[in-house]
Amino acid sequence: MAMDRELLLQNLESARMQTDALFGLVRPEAVYERPIPERHRIVFYIGHLETFDWNLIGRRFRDLPAFAPALDQLFAFGIDPAVGTEQRDQPSDWPVMDEVRRYVAQVRERLGPVLAGAPEQALHAALEHRLMHAETFAYMLHHLPLEQKIRPALPSVDAPAPALAMVEIPAGSAVLGRSREHGFGWDNEFEAHAESVPAFALDKYKVTNGQFLKFVEQGAAPPRFWRRENGGWLYRTMFGEIPLPFSWPVYVTHDQAQQYAAWKGKQLPTEAQFHRAAYGAPHGPERAYPWGDEAPDATRGNFDFHSWDPAPVTAHPQGESAFGASQMLGNGWEWTSTVFGPFEGFEPFPFYPGYSADFFDGAHYVAKGASARTAAPLLRRSFRNWFRRDYPYVYAGFRCVEN
Ligand code: AVJ
Repeated sequence: MAMDRELLLQNLESARMQTDALFGLVRPEAVYERPIPERHRIVFYIGHLETFDWNLIGRRFRDLPAFAPALDQLFAFGIDPAVGTEQRDQPSDWPVMDEVRRYVAQVRERLGPVLAGAPEQALHAALEHRLMHAETFAYMLHHLPLEQKIRPALPSVDAPAPALAMVEIPAGSAVLGRSREHGFGWDNEFEAHAESVPAFALDKYKVTNGQFLKFVEQGAAPPRFWRRENGGWLYRTMFGEIPLPFSWPVYVTHDQAQQYAAWKGKQLPTEAQFHRAAYGAPHGPERAYPWGDEAPDATRGNFDFHSWDPAPVTAHPQGESAFGASQMLGNGWEWTSTVFGPFEGFEPFPFYPGYSADFFDGAHYVAKGASARTAAPLLRRSFRNWFRRDYPYVYAGFRCVEN
């Protein structure tokens, strides 16, 4: 099922506009800031998105001459050190913005004539790489002080607390992964294979801030998105602090999710359980999306950049899975208890051998689903996300299971 090349090129162009607009929300004096202490300064990401496309399509596939080899190297790879690792580089170690902007423009100019003839897999990789950064850059922007960003709008509203329902998932099989005939997927999505999943019960809704507050009141550490003030809690949205929205999904680390589940005498779902609850159906084959086979749109869930912030966990009943689980796609990734690793038949992409394999280290966990800032092309069933167990910046929450 090859995507039309013309459409792919258009999508790449709109993804460029999307990431340009995101970087445009950073006040110019703040581009050398480092809102996430473990990661690179903002300026790196402005260069990196173009370097990735240039090194992959311009250099590797078309063998165009390098015009700025030092920048091709400087911006080649991001970093993911242990949480708490401090970076030592100084703003003056990075090129001035004029130089970065010139580089960005030159890459796009040089790629212009060759993009149409690039291998389709490379175009998909360029598109999805950029879209994943559109999401992870939102994590960075989220933690940039308010006065250093340009604010478009303040969010949304709270809703009544959800019923604490669980849904029953009957025993059955989950077909994880992707088969090579089905179009682009990242290396870690292959091969497709069935896992049999015994019956279990799953929270109908994602765990909310209101529920997690009870745990914090018992002494658990608060999520990174909360701030204590005058004996109450404020919630840090993208563009301002608001009173803690009890009905929104809580975003926490894998460690915090796991501790909460244990406190409740429950577990986190495995990747296969999540998959079964989201995509399985009582009869017939798995669905393409939790709600069925219709393409995602804004009525089905909170994803694809429609909102900057979460919605109540009861929103989007039209996105429910066949088993009645709410928001299995959108409104926040969900932690699984599965350590990120290869499926049988895994082969790294020769053009990007470290994309997944560098993270098969036992220190990263699989997150499934999507957040408000996850682009439509990444909403496929086989897409897998991963982060360190204590990395606190992700729009990721969880729900519990009883086995
Ligand atoms: C799949 C989101 C975990 O951001 O570390 C982007 C994607 N890899 N550039 C990450 C990625 C290299 C990756 N995640």
